[in-house]
Amino acid sequence: MKRCIRNGQIYGTGNSRSGKPGDIWIQGGVIEKITEPGEAFWQEDTEYIDAGGCWVVPGLVDLHVHFREPGQTEKEDIASGCRAAAAGGVTTVCCMPNTKPAADCEEIIRLIDEKAGNACGVHVLPVASITVGMNGKTVVNTRKLYNCDTQCKELTGRGIAALSEDGRSVMDSAVMESAMVQARDLGIPVFSHTEDHAITAESPEGEEIIVARDILLAKKTGCPLHLCHISTKGSLDLIRLGKRWGLKLTAETAPHYFTLTREDTANKTDTLRKMNPPLRGEEDREAVRQALKDGTLDVIATDHAPHCPEEKQRPFAEAPFGVVGLETSFAVAYTELVKRGILTPEELVRRMSTKPAEILGLRRGIIAEGYPADLAVIDTQREYTIHGEHLYSKGKNTPFEGKRVFGKVVCTLADGNVIYREGEEA
Ligand code: DOR
Ligand code: ZN
Ligand code: ZN
Repeated sequence: MKRCIRNGQIYGTGNSRSGKPGDIWIQGGVIEKITEPGEAFWQEDTEYIDAGGCWVVPGLVDLHVHFREPGQTEKEDIASGCRAAAAGGVTTVCCMPNTKPAADCEEIIRLIDEKAGNACGVHVLPVASITVGMNGKTVVNTRKLYNCDTQCKELTGRGIAALSEDGRSVMDSAVMESAMVQARDLGIPVFSHTEDHAITAESPEGEEIIVARDILLAKKTGCPLHLCHISTKGSLDLIRLGKRWGLKLTAETAPHYFTLTREDTANKTDTLRKMNPPLRGEEDREAVRQALKDGTLDVIATDHAPHCPEEKQRPFAEAPFGVVGLETSFAVAYTELVKRGILTPEELVRRMSTKPAEILGLRRGIIAEGYPADLAVIDTQREYTIHGEHLYSKGKNTPFEGKRVFGKVVCTLADGNVIYREGEEA
C-alpha cells in the first residue's frame, strides 16, 4: 500500500531540510520522495496520515531493552515488548541476553528471532551473552552466533547485534579480553554493563572501575566497545579520555539518569525507582546532561526492565532492580532536554535514532529518499501524565509515575507498515 505522511515537521534528515514541514511518500516499505507540503506526488491508492502540528522523526532505535523471553514471560514477552516499543515510537530494539536460559547459543537466538517475526513489526536485534549461561568463564561460540540466520543478519550482516553480559559484568578481565578479541575479529560490538561486583553499586567507583577497565581492554584489543547506562561524572571523564585516544568507543545513558536523582527515592522506599546502576546525585545528573550535549554520551537508551507488580511491591531491599522505559523515553527526553534548551530537536533525534543505528551498522535512523520507512509521528505539544497502568508493556514499573510530560506518539511505522496508531487496539 502507498502511504503519505502529510504536513509534519520532519527531523532527522541529516541536512538543512530538517525541522521544515513536508510530505513523506512511502511505497514498498521505502521512503520514495519527500516533497513540500500539499504537493500531489501521486494520488491513487494512497493512505494519508495527517501529521499536521506534529514532528515526524526516524523510528527510534533503543540499544538496550530486556524482553524476558524465554523464561519470564509473566514480566514481558517479545510480543508485548514490541507493542510497548511501537507505542513509544521505537522501531528497532536490541534485546539483552539475561533471559532464562541466557541467550548464549544459536537455538535461543533463533527462538527470539522467530517470536519477533510474529510480533507487530518492530525490528528485534538479539544481543548474545558473552559467556555460556552468563557464568563469567567460558566465552560463547561467537562465530556460530555471528552466522546465525536472523532478521538481524539481514539488517546488519551479522546474526546478533552485539555481545553483552548485561545484568552483570564479566569480572575476569582475561575472559573479557578474550571475548573482545573474538568480537573484534568478527566485527561484533561489545556492550558493557559496567559494575564491579566486589564493590557496592551505590558508590560511583562500582561503575567507574569497570568503565576504566573496559576502555583499557578496548584500547588493547581494538574491539568496538559500547558502555551501557552511564550514570556518574567520573565515568564521563574516563569516556572522554578513551575517545581522545581514538578508540571505537560509544556510550549511552537512560532517561532516569538525566531526570531523577537519589533524592527522588524517598527514604529508600520507592521501589519504582530502584534500578542498577542506581540514581546518583545532582552533580552527576547535570554532568550526564552536559555529556549528552557535547557528545561524550552518544545515545539515549532505556534499559527497559519490566518486573511484576508483586515483585516491586516487596520491601525495598527485596524488590528487583529495573524500570520500564520504552513508552516514555521520547516524552521524558523531549521534556527534560529539548524544552529546557539543553538539546536541539536535531540533537535529540541523533541520540535516540541516528547514532544508535550507526553503532549497529543499520541503514536506518534517518529520513531520506531511498531509506526504509521506519518513522514516528509525535505530537510534541500534547501534555499528559505518565501512569504505569496505561502502558502496553506488561511491566508497569515506571520511575516516572505521575510525571507531566510533553510528546505523545500518535503513529509509528516500520518498513512502511503502521505498527501503532494512538487509540487503536493492538
Ligand atoms: O536495573 C536493572 N535491571 N539493571 C540491570 O542491570 C538488569 C536489569 C534487569 O534485567 O532487570
Ligand atoms: Zn546493565
Ligand atoms: Zn540492562
